[in-house]
Amino acid sequence: MTPLLVAMPGNERLTEDLAATLRWDVGRLEIRAFPDGETYLRFITSPADRPMALVCTLSHPNKKLLPLLFASATARELGASSVGLVAPYLAYMRQDRRFRPGEAVTSRQVARLLSDAFDWLVTVDPHLHRYHSLADVYTVPTHVVHAAPIIANWIKANVNDPLIIGPDSESEQWVAAVASDVGAPYSILDKVRRGDRDVEIRFKDPEQWRERTPVLVDDIISTGHTMIEAVRLLTSQGWRRPVCVAVHGLFSDDADVLLARAGASVVTTNSVPHPTNAIDIGMALADAITRVHQCTDG
Ligand code: R5P
Repeated sequence: MTPLLVAMPGNERLTEDLAATLRWDVGRLEIRAFPDGETYLRFITSPADRPMALVCTLSHPNKKLLPLLFASATARELGASSVGLVAPYLAYMRQDRRFRPGEAVTSRQVARLLSDAFDWLVTVDPHLHRYHSLADVYTVPTHVVHAAPIIANWIKANVNDPLIIGPDSESEQWVAAVASDVGAPYSILDKVRRGDRDVEIRFKDPEQWRERTPVLVDDIISTGHTMIEAVRLLTSQGWRRPVCVAVHGLFSDDADVLLARAGASVVTTNSVPHPTNAIDIGMALADAITRVHQCTDG
């Protein structure tokens, strides 16, 4: 039977595009909040006896996770032969160890919840810092889309003479891959994070690339302070107007407005819907879904 792709709220556009590429059916879900905030959920399209996947990007995840788990459990009760998860942004990956005594290692706990609820997972560039791969914490088959070549294509088409810059050592994995695909040099800044919204950036100024356009590349823009401080530093040193590129634009605290005010142009992939989405990861996601679905559903 043709598999079913079902959007959790806010993921309708990507779901329609993916279903068209995959030639899967789009399933419909009725979902709303009761007056007290509890979730009402009903499958309008029956998932009985067919493989299905839910599409739910997990930016600002706390409100999304419980309805997502309800949807998965309900699909199983209604007889779906398998239930996959397409989460272009996978939340809770940054708390990957107990930094201070007594802290929750939420990456492990969320991985356990999602591994119990789904048969497979497809995502885009999860924040892997201290984990080597998703298999360190997820127990179901996973497939990761790497946005670097897609970002590199965008930079090649839109920026002359770029210097690819990573705002911190964690970003080097993406920055090096993007720079190699673009065929441009790269440089990594030093970041000291003192708190959620308190970041200091230092720069070993690579004088020899002064004539190039700085393109800051990171996996996530959350509060934007990492990018904002990097942009301020570059502009104060007289560099050209920086371009900020992120795989996942979460934009907490109006970070997009603050970044524009700091003098940057901002571009993101459509892993999280936002007006800055200029880089489409749809084809790569569809390819990943096909691969993982073939492995798990035959
Ligand atoms: C850090 O681990 C990530 O790669 C990003 O640099 C970070 O999440 C950005 O956060 P913010 O936008 O809040 O500075």
